[in-house]
Amino acid sequence: MDGLDALKVKYLTAVANAADEAGLEEVRLAALGKKGEISLKMRDLGGMEPTQRQAAGAMLNVLKDEIDAALRAKKAALADTALDERLRSEWLDVTLPGRPRPRGTIHPVSQVMEELTAIFADMGFAVAEGPQVESDWFNFDALNIPPEHPARQEHDTFFMNRAEGDDRPPHVLRTHTSPVQIRAMAEQGAPIRVIAPGRVYRMDMDQTHTPMFHQVEGLAIDRNISMANLKWTLEEFCRAFFEVPSVELRFRASHFPFTEPSAEVDIRCSWEGGQLKIGQGDKWMEILGSGMVHPKVLTAAGVNPDEWQGFAFGMGIDRIAMLKYGIPDLRAFFESDLRWLRHYGFAALDMPDLAGGLSA
Ligand code: PHE
Repeated sequence: MDGLDALKVKYLTAVANAADEAGLEEVRLAALGKKGEISLKMRDLGGMEPTQRQAAGAMLNVLKDEIDAALRAKKAALADTALDERLRSEWLDVTLPGRPRPRGTIHPVSQVMEELTAIFADMGFAVAEGPQVESDWFNFDALNIPPEHPARQEHDTFFMNRAEGDDRPPHVLRTHTSPVQIRAMAEQGAPIRVIAPGRVYRMDMDQTHTPMFHQVEGLAIDRNISMANLKWTLEEFCRAFFEVPSVELRFRASHFPFTEPSAEVDIRCSWEGGQLKIGQGDKWMEILGSGMVHPKVLTAAGVNPDEWQGFAFGMGIDRIAMLKYGIPDLRAFFESDLRWLRHYGFAALDMPDLAGGLSA
C-alpha cells in the first residue's frame, strides 16, 4: 500500500501542532473518524487480494495505533497545560491575613444626623458648627439671656472651672445649639440659612433625659421670612424625615428669650406595646422649640434687625431618632451596650440621601 509514510508524517505533524483540544479533535476526525483518511483506507482493504490485504492491513493498523497514541499523548499534555494555566491564574496567597466584615455599626444618632442634613441641604441649608465648651456670652447673653434672667436656672448648666482669682464668668458646656446661631451670623452675616447639629449638656437624668444629648439648630434669616416659612419648613422636614405622606404638628405658643413670638412644636404619635409610632394615635411628643429670631439676638450677632428677620428652631435629635426607629428608652442610646448597638445600628454604607431613599 502506497503513501502510508506520507500519511504518517502528515498526521503526526498535525497532532504535534494542535494548539488546543478542539484543534486536536479535528485532527482525530480527519484521520480516524468515520470518514477519516485512515478509516477510508481500511475500508479499501475489502476489495484486495487476500495476501495483499494481510500485508496492507497490518501496516494500516500499525499506523492507526501510532496516530491514536500520539492523539492521546497530546490530549493529556494539553489538559496538563490547561490545568497549569488555571492554577496560575487562580493563585491565592493563603498566608495573607483575613479581612473580616466590619462588626461596627453606625449609631442611630449619627444616622439621623446624616438624614436630617440631607433633607435640610436639599432646602438650601448649610451645616454650621460651634464648640461644645462655650463662653457664657455665646450660650446666654448674646441670646438675650442676661445673668439675672430666670431662664439661666432652667438650663441646669454644667460650668467649667476658672483659675483661682479669675472672676470672669466661667465657660459652660453649651446647654443648647443656639449659640451657633450667633457664631454663624457673626461670621457670615445675612442672608443666611444654616443648621447646626451637635451635642448639648444639661444636668438631667430620667427615662427621657440624659446629661448629654443632641440638638439640631435651624436658622433662616432674610428680608421677608415669616412664621409661615417656619411652619412649612418644619412640616416638609417631618414628612421627608419620617417618610410618611403626612404628619401632624401642633404649634403651642411658648416663650424663649431669643425668639418672639415663640412656639413649641409637638408631633402626633402613639405608644403601643412599648413602641412609639408617629403620625397616628392620641399622644403628642414635643420635638422642638422655635420662633422668630429676637431683634436683640440679631443685633448681638451684628445683623441689622431693621433690615433682616427670620426664624430659628432647636430640635431634639435623640427624640426624633426614637420616634422614627421605635426606640423606647433614651438612656440606652448612651450605654454602649453592644447588643443594643447591633440591633439598632446601621450598616456603614447606608448613606442617606434624598434621591436614593433616606433609610431604605
Ligand atoms: N434653644 C432652645 C432649647 O434648647 C430651642 C430653641 C431654638 C427655641 C431656637 C427657639 C429657637 O430649648
